[in-house]
Amino acid sequence: MSGAPWYLDCDTGIDDALTLGLLVAEGADLKGIGSVSGNLSSVGGARNTLDLMALMGRPDVPVAIGAHDPIGGVFGGGADFVHGANGIGGVELPRAGEPVEESAAEMLVRLAREHRGTLRVLAIGPLTNLALALELEPELPSLVADVVIMGGAARVPGNVTAVGEANIWNDPEAASAVFGAPWTVTMVGLDVTMVARFEEQHRVALESGGAAPAALAAMLGVYFQYYTPILGRPSCALHDPLAAAIALGAVQPTLAPVVPVEVDATEGPGRGQTLVDLRGRFVGYPAVPNARHRVVLGIPEGFGDQLLQTLLRLP
Ligand code: RIB
Ligand code: CA
Repeated sequence: MSGAPWYLDCDTGIDDALTLGLLVAEGADLKGIGSVSGNLSSVGGARNTLDLMALMGRPDVPVAIGAHDPIGGVFGGGADFVHGANGIGGVELPRAGEPVEESAAEMLVRLAREHRGTLRVLAIGPLTNLALALELEPELPSLVADVVIMGGAARVPGNVTAVGEANIWNDPEAASAVFGAPWTVTMVGLDVTMVARFEEQHRVALESGGAAPAALAAMLGVYFQYYTPILGRPSCALHDPLAAAIALGAVQPTLAPVVPVEVDATEGPGRGQTLVDLRGRFVGYPAVPNARHRVVLGIPEGFGDQLLQTLLRLP
């Protein structure tokens, strides 16, 4: 397990909640968590994060409310048809703690300066806070160790439009700024997250765990409802937990070339697409200009079983 200090940026819906559980169970050194509007509002996401972290035994991690609106736009209202009205499947958790005063972008910049060169960034929602942090501190890329995101789609369709994945599509301007900055982004997109699954047996097994696993199981009941007609059986995609597991080194990708990535932030039908240049695919993706980002295209089998055993360690 990586002993590095972490900043997490999330839009705490149900797969974000699973990710909080994974990070806590793995003992990640979480220095701060920022919320961003996506699955629900940044205020609602911060509330879910505070309550979940307390339920999992980590009320000590500071939570900052981040951007409500995307850069240059307005928040579209969230995805209650996926994550439920409160973002976590309607599960009511004991209210615990309050967010800190600073914004998520301010928290990220502060932590990057305090942990100069070692802070790792994991973003599992729209990238608005990261883009705002780059505006606040243009030297941010030289201050952080690396950035891992759940987002995008290289060789597969999007999930909001034919080409747009939600975290990119919800703020393409921010995503374009993040991929355009001089740091290495590890992109964990739908190419791999749509084949990382929880099946019914995983959800049922969580029900017999402690309070936190049982709450996650209740949330999955709603999340399965959205994914079952898409995947053809009671199950769900493990988008955010897979990104976190790859970031922690708990899952080693089988294919993850370093290639150029751009984001379509135009107003046309391609808006929100991650344009991943895979033209070197027959010759081992040789270094080409602007090849800076690591795009995960393959993972080993069995992540659902691995995640279940991790989450069952929660209280
Ligand atoms: O496209 C899936 C992503 O959008 C996940 O991060 C999910 O939580 C939503 O934010
Ligand atoms: Ca998310």
